[in-house]
Amino acid sequence: MKNGTTERMEHEHACTRVAARFSERWLRLYAGRKLRNDPVFLTAFELLRASPSPLVDIGCGVGLLAFYLRERNFRPPISGLDRDGRKIARAHAVAHGVYGDLEFIEQDVCAPITPTGNVVLFDVLHYLSPSEQARLLDRLAPRVAPGGLLVIRDCPRDRNARYWLTHLAERFAQMTTWNIQVPLHFPTREKIRAAFGDNQFTQTVQPLWGRTPFNNHLFIFRRRDTATVPGWAERSDNSLSLGRAG
Ligand SMILES: C[S@@+](CC[C@H](N)C(=O)[O-])C[C@H]1O[C@@H](n2cnc3c(N)ncnc32)[C@H](O)[C@@H]1O
Repeated sequence: MKNGTTERMEHEHACTRVAARFSERWLRLYAGRKLRNDPVFLTAFELLRASPSPLVDIGCGVGLLAFYLRERNFRPPISGLDRDGRKIARAHAVAHGVYGDLEFIEQDVCAPITPTGNVVLFDVLHYLSPSEQARLLDRLAPRVAPGGLLVIRDCPRDRNARYWLTHLAERFAQMTTWNIQVPLHFPTREKIRAAFGDNQFTQTVQPLWGRTPFNNHLFIFRRRDTATVPGWAERSDNSLSLGRAG
């Protein structure tokens, strides 16, 4: 069992190593700051570290989560998809020759997806329309392996001060960074939960805003071991694939 100091050092080294792999200075600075200040990476590692299942990172951006997990010795295959070709190109450049068993695919989440295993969506849902969000969650829920996790980080539409600050900051980020310029639709908690029935999933919702003034929350859905997953038996190799279904 590692003590807190060792864990903190391993986290810090992983952040440093990932950031250093980006060739552009501004991306090195962005990656280092993001990995250190956003608690979602360490939290994801803690949730996933014991799982041997493949991981699908929906809206993976430049691949920070995948690289961070590899630096923390997380070995299962990781597949990231994002509709932004510029980010996927950066992810490929970093992964090339350094990190094994990673794939990054330029793909819109509204296109067919057939992942199995654990699935994460960090800061992605609010870029989709409400109907796209509902369809995506409905399509992803049956893909989660028995005992597996689907983890969402987003800002629920709580209409409190934290929510409005998040909204404002996101609008500002869209104007000043390379975040995609689409209308924002922050989902309600109920909409996020709707696809994950109690008979199939346990669920936990917890704040994950670190030292920020934002309203970020983590929604953790774990498929019950006893739940029957429609069509799961046919997926006999239990592997991860992205392609023609969904
Ligand atoms: C705020 S970034 C988060 C990136 C990454 N998940 C992270 O936490 O570092 C949101 C990402 O979602 C992607 N995205 C938004 N809408 C998408 C869509 N319809 N299909 C695929 N990716 C999408 C964006 O291109 C962007 O990379």
